[in-house]
Order: sequence, then structure tokens, then C-alpha cells
Amino acid sequence: MIKVGINGYGTIGKRVADAVSKQDDMKVIGVTKTRPSWEAKMAIDKGFDLYAAIPENAEKFGEAGIKISGTIDDLIKEVDVIVDCTPSKFGAGNKEKYYLPNTVKATFQGGEKPEVADVSFNALANYEKAVGKNYVRVVSCNTTGLSRALYAVSSNLKIGKVRVVLIRRAADPGDSKKGPINAIVPSVKVPSHHGPDVQTVLPDIDIVTSAVKVPTTIMHLHSIMAELKENTTAEDVIKIFENTPRIKLIDSTDGFPSTAEIIEYARDFGRPRYDLYENMIWRDSISVKDNELYFFQAIHQEADVVPENVDAIRAMFNLASKEESIKKTNKSLRI
Ligand SMILES: NC(=O)c1ccc[n+]([C@@H]2O[C@H](COP(=O)([O-])OP(=O)(O)OC[C@H]3O[C@@H](n4cnc5c(N)ncnc54)[C@H](OP(=O)(O)O)[C@@H]3O)[C@@H](O)[C@H]2O)c1
Repeated sequence: MIKVGINGYGTIGKRVADAVSKQDDMKVIGVTKTRPSWEAKMAIDKGFDLYAAIPENAEKFGEAGIKISGTIDDLIKEVDVIVDCTPSKFGAGNKEKYYLPNTVKATFQGGEKPEVADVSFNALANYEKAVGKNYVRVVSCNTTGLSRALYAVSSNLKIGKVRVVLIRRAADPGDSKKGPINAIVPSVKVPSHHGPDVQTVLPDIDIVTSAVKVPTTIMHLHSIMAELKENTTAEDVIKIFENTPRIKLIDSTDGFPSTAEIIEYARDFGRPRYDLYENMIWRDSISVKDNELYFFQAIHQEADVVPENVDAIRAMFNLASKEESIKKTNKSLRI
């Protein structure tokens, strides 16, 4: 049983904590918060032991009537692996301060630079590369979505240049600080950073990306175009996606004209926090014209990286093969 600590119990951390709790080969030893917020109380209500992420803040929890089990210095001594879910760019410092000196393995999230880890990870695309590694970076929500779809296509078909336009959600639903509220904001520097990030997982993909931010909180949307180097039909691509784990095909004509209906479906489907771990690809958007493949996919940014963190832990401790791990994680999360 692998002992897991979650450093940073926010959007990603709380989801990973719940997902790890559902596995039979790993368990959550504790989670950290920097301050005594409602999320800290919720962690305890859910049965997680809480630790102060910043040791100097430990007393503040007691003052707020929240019982902690210690600080990050205590948690680190009890675990085999930390899932670092602290805000972007904090993970590298945590590695130097806590994980390396205590020889504890760690997974990092997509907000960290690739250099923080031995490998940038997506279970479907490069599970084997993380086997036995000490530091693994689970790539961002967008890169996870692109890696899954492009691995599926490129491992079945010869493809050339890939171009992607990312339409990005402006903020997560629980975030009142970010915008825009009434504007569309292009990342004026083209190519955007997303293409090189995909290449940290799939180095052979020739990809150029551009991105815009729009006033929505629920999902990202990707418009994907890929040159085809062999005769291929839309039906061929549909079959590939039907046989790929963590990809779900939907049809606009079946009541899914937009991301709004996808999230309404997710609410009815009833996973915790209406999480959608899969790439949601519009089947009726998949088309081939003049040897170029086109399709749209929607990505639930808060959720798609969650099963990947579970698989990353299995790979790091060599607990299962890629296929076994994906199957096990999917079963436990109702994917
Ligand atoms: N949100 C997304 O859509 C998304 C998707 C994929 C990947 N990611 C990546 O996942 C990582 C975490 O993002 P998030 O959205 O989950 O962030 P978040 O919601 O802001 O949560 C961050 C958590 O870290 C805690 N924290 C803050 N400073 C800390 C410190 N110095 N040490 C330890 N914990 C600290 C915060 O606790 P307090 O509230 O107590 O300060 C909070 O619980 C980032 O690398 C991000 O790029 C995010």
C-alpha cells in the first residue's frame, strides 16, 4: 500500500485526494493547507488528516479551532510519495526544500516547468517512461487532452503537421479573481507554449498552437487540425477514438451543441463535483478534407489530470502495467 501525501488541497489536490482514496493499492496519509479556510475544514470533515503547508502558520489553525496533525515536515516523514498540487511554480521550491532532502518521490502538476521532473507524463502516451522514476510531472489539463487525442491518432495513422487553436476558460468556477468578464483575449505570442508542452510527452509530433482566453469557467475547447499522410476517412478516425480510453464521443445532434450541455450532462451523470475525466470529442465534428483531419474536443480543466496522477504513482512504484493501471483507475472513478 503506497502512502500518499497531497501538498496543496485546492482545485486539483482535493480531487486527487478523493481519487487516491478510491484505490486499493495506495492511501492518503494527509493533505496540506496554508491557512484555516473552509476547504481546510472540509478536508477534515471528509476524514483526511490535515497538515500546515507553511510550518510558521501552524498556530493559526488551532486559533481557528481546526485540529491539524502536524506540518509538512511531519507529513513528509510518513509518506512514500507527495502529489504536489500547490499553485504554479511553487512545486520546484518544494522539491528542493522538502522532497529531495527527505528522499520522497513526488508528482508535480502542469504549472511547473518540465525540468522539475525526470519525465512529463500522460498515461496513454508514455506511461513506461515514468516506471521507477522519482519525479514525474503530470502535464496540464490542455496538454493532457491534446496528448491523449494526438497519441491515439499518431499511433494508428501516419500524420504530418498538427495545428491547434485552444479556446481557454478564463478561470475555474471557484475563482473570483481572474478574468476577463467581457472580452476575448488572444495570447498574442504565436506559437503558444502548449505545442512545446505537448512535445515534452510526444516529442515526434510536429505541432503549432495558438490560444485565446474567453469569459467561461466550465471547459476548454480545442479545434484540432492534422495533416494526414495516408488515405483516411472520418470513420477510420471515429473507430480509433472509440477504442481509446479516456476519450468519449458525443454528437451535437444528440443535445450537445456546446460545452454548457456537456456540463449539464456531467451534473446529471453524478460523479463528484460533476467531474469529466475524459476528452469530450464531437463525433460529428470529425471530418477529413484534402488529406487534413479536423475535429473539436472539450476538456474539463479541473478533472482530466486526476486519473493521470493516480497512474503516475503506479508507474513510479512499478505497481502495474500501463493497461492494468488505466483500467484500474478508470474502474474506480467510473470512467
Ligand atoms: N485548475 C486547473 O484547471 C488546473 C488544471 C490542471 C493543472 N493545474 C495545475 O495544478 C496545480 C495546482 O493548481 P490548482 O488550480 O489546484 O490551484 P489552487 O486551486 O489555487 O490550489 C492550490 C492549493 O495549494 C495551496 N498552497 C498555496 N500555497 C502553498 C504553499 N506555499 N505550499 C503548499 N500549498 C500551498 C493552497 O492552499 P491555501 O488555499 O490554504 O493557500 C491551495 O490548496 C498548478 O500547477 C496548476 O497549473 C490546474
